[in-house]
Amino acid sequence: MVALARTNPSTANDETEVSAFERDVLKGLGARRKQLAPKYFYDGAGSQLFERITEQPEYYPTRCEMHILQDNAADIARLIPAGAALVEFGSGSNKKARILLAVAPVLAAYVPVDISPEMLEQEADALQLDFPRLNIRPVAADFTQIFELPEEAKAAAVRVGFFPGSTIGNFEPHEAASFLRNAAKILGPNSILIVGADLIKPVDILNAAYNDAAGVTARFNLNLLVRINRELNGSFKLDTFEHHAFYNRERHRIEMHLASLKRQKVKVAGECFDFRAGETIHTENSYKYSVESLGALARGVGWLPAGVWMDSKKYFSIQAFTLAP
Ligand code: SAH
Ligand code: AVI
Repeated sequence: MVALARTNPSTANDETEVSAFERDVLKGLGARRKQLAPKYFYDGAGSQLFERITEQPEYYPTRCEMHILQDNAADIARLIPAGAALVEFGSGSNKKARILLAVAPVLAAYVPVDISPEMLEQEADALQLDFPRLNIRPVAADFTQIFELPEEAKAAAVRVGFFPGSTIGNFEPHEAASFLRNAAKILGPNSILIVGADLIKPVDILNAAYNDAAGVTARFNLNLLVRINRELNGSFKLDTFEHHAFYNRERHRIEMHLASLKRQKVKVAGECFDFRAGETIHTENSYKYSVESLGALARGVGWLPAGVWMDSKKYFSIQAFTLAP
């Protein structure tokens, strides 16, 4: 089994793990506009539900990004020098990294980083079977904070960051900028960053992607309440909350909410929260970028454009950046 490193409080396997979740949930539910951070979707069940979302016919981003990677693997992998460490942020199922690993030169290490230790461990083991000579060094960490890379990655000549999935879109733009700034610190001088970002497109396609007919996205959203009930002794009644997802044109983002179907009180970790009928908990934003807007954001924090790839419909983009000296 591949050994897992846990490097910051959000994923530490002790009391602090619960208290970070508890602190954030109590603060989010106590706010005037109730909100929860999307990183908390990804417990064991949430990670599995996300994988099922990616298989839904309406959810185009994963298929588009996989196609872009398959069609341009050699070109993209040319950015990865022999002996580099490939650091993937939010690695999930690893299926996108596999496409690059199949054509990349020999690496010092592949470092999948994820907040979901179960998923990380299981996928690292599966990857090791298919790439027996690859040095896999998984790190369970919250990538919104600075974390330590494994020694092999620190010692490598250069580190290449890989941030697929449009997970960057789940940040507020100022958080995306600070992620990109942190990534530069973590990866260090001469590093390269390859980022997948969902593009602005017709509203009906966007709305359908987050309201799949099979209701998997709704289950993914509601699973956050299941997690709060289990881990924080919550009293959410799942059939009194409904999944809402819609595109906000002004802000170029899909918003996901959980709407209370009635006036009610809910207890979490001993605290009581009032809900009005129709009041929502804002659980996720998924910002949609243009190549230019993401490029400008990255340039603003010192990353210079080094390549752009898109699918034929221009639904999704992969952009590469190099760190300005
Ligand atoms: N890269 C995969 C998975 C995307 S889903 C793909 O493109 O299909 C988002 C992934 O990021 C999940 O695996 C989730 O567990 C992880 N994640 C979300 N927020 C995180 C955070 N703050 N720190 C570390 N990992 C996070
Ligand atoms: C991981 N992230 C980019 C997904 C997205 O599309 O924003 C999460 C997701 N939320 C609902 N469906 C998928």
